[in-house]
Amino acid sequence: MTETTAPMAQPEPVAFPQDRTCPYHPPTAYDPLRAHRPLARVTLFDGRPAWLVTGHAAARALLSDPRLSSDRTRPGFPLTTPRIAAARNRKVALLGADDPEHHAQRRMMVPNFTLRRAAELRPAIQRIVDERLDAMIGQGPPAELVNAFALPVPSMVICSLLGVPYGDHEFFEEQSRRLLRGPEPADTLHAREQLEAYLGDLIDGKAKSTEPGDAILDDLVHQRLREGTLDRAEVVSLAVILLVAGHETTANMISLGTYTLLRQPERLAELRADPALLPAAVEELMRLLSIADGLLRTALEDIEVDGTTIRAGDGVVFATSVINRDESVYAEPDTLDWHRPARHHVGFGFGIHQCLGQNLARAEMEIALGTLFERLPGLRLAARPKDIPFKPGDTIQGMLELPVTW
Ligand code: HEM
Repeated sequence: MTETTAPMAQPEPVAFPQDRTCPYHPPTAYDPLRAHRPLARVTLFDGRPAWLVTGHAAARALLSDPRLSSDRTRPGFPLTTPRIAAARNRKVALLGADDPEHHAQRRMMVPNFTLRRAAELRPAIQRIVDERLDAMIGQGPPAELVNAFALPVPSMVICSLLGVPYGDHEFFEEQSRRLLRGPEPADTLHAREQLEAYLGDLIDGKAKSTEPGDAILDDLVHQRLREGTLDRAEVVSLAVILLVAGHETTANMISLGTYTLLRQPERLAELRADPALLPAAVEELMRLLSIADGLLRTALEDIEVDGTTIRAGDGVVFATSVINRDESVYAEPDTLDWHRPARHHVGFGFGIHQCLGQNLARAEMEIALGTLFERLPGLRLAARPKDIPFKPGDTIQGMLELPVTW
């Protein structure tokens, strides 16, 4: 007997994005989408429809498909928030570029972010983590972990890598926050202009200097700008993306990772007993937390996916939180279990835009979480979970504040 399976009817489109109900689980409003792998329909804030990629295999195929564009200035690009809509005409280096432009930018940057380079940076990251913990422990308990630890660690690391003075951190952290979270769309544009002006001045200063440093921006200025392979606007654009992507994301993983582990004491006890589990734990946290939950593309041509056609010009959104919980790849996907192989998650994306800073981010997360839990065996939440604020669904996910004591 032959069985025929008709394609499952699409449910009513749900609105995307939505707020999480628990900071480490996808919004419950996305639950119906799990039955609609690999593609579902969603409605964006402006009423326009888009495809939501929900299946793991389809996500990896589509993220490496050159028929999808990351150029947000194209018509049809899925504008998922008023902020993104307001900034759609601004060129974004790397993340917003297609090949061949993207390839040229990426090739210049890759040597700074290899596995080997991240390994060389480990002692410096450990020093920063130790200093921040000394300061936090010296002033506490209690402490607010986001501002005392989770944010300063990656901020200091990316500053020293880029050659940006950490003394300016309050300014650029605030602008990054406004760039990614508003509240008003105009904030995004203004924040980007502020960051561009700040980094432009810094770059001009470096260009005048007769004793260049050995940081990434010094190298871009004294080599690429001088030889004419990049112009000033391109150097500024690269500096903005590296500075913003380099601290906000990892900070959220440290705060939300800490919260998640404190809420799962058995898992935390296991990790404390065997720190060799840390790399696997970080990978599994990346899968489970999926903090960059909504990667955006436009189809340049018609693309067939399991009998459904994504039409040229359609917006395509990748819900990493749903993709990373595809039951056909991860058994009991809602459970934090670092004994599973979590390696093929898409928490760092996939394909040509896969996170440039992933080796660095892994080193930072391992050192920050490992040292925090080792030095503070009594670490616990200092407020009821329901009173601890976390980020809304339209931005990188993480904790707004994390009150802790020990
Ligand atoms: C745990 C922390 C991090 C997470 C979760 C994360 C996540 C991601 C994701 C999902 C993408 C792909 C976006 C897309 O395909 O549309 C991406 C790209 C990128 N990330 Fe990260 N990231 C993290 C840390 C970092 C760090 C530390 C840097 C340091 C510079 C960085 C720099 C970048 C850049 C430059 C891109 C664009 C790459 C390209 O388009 O070729 N990220 N990141």
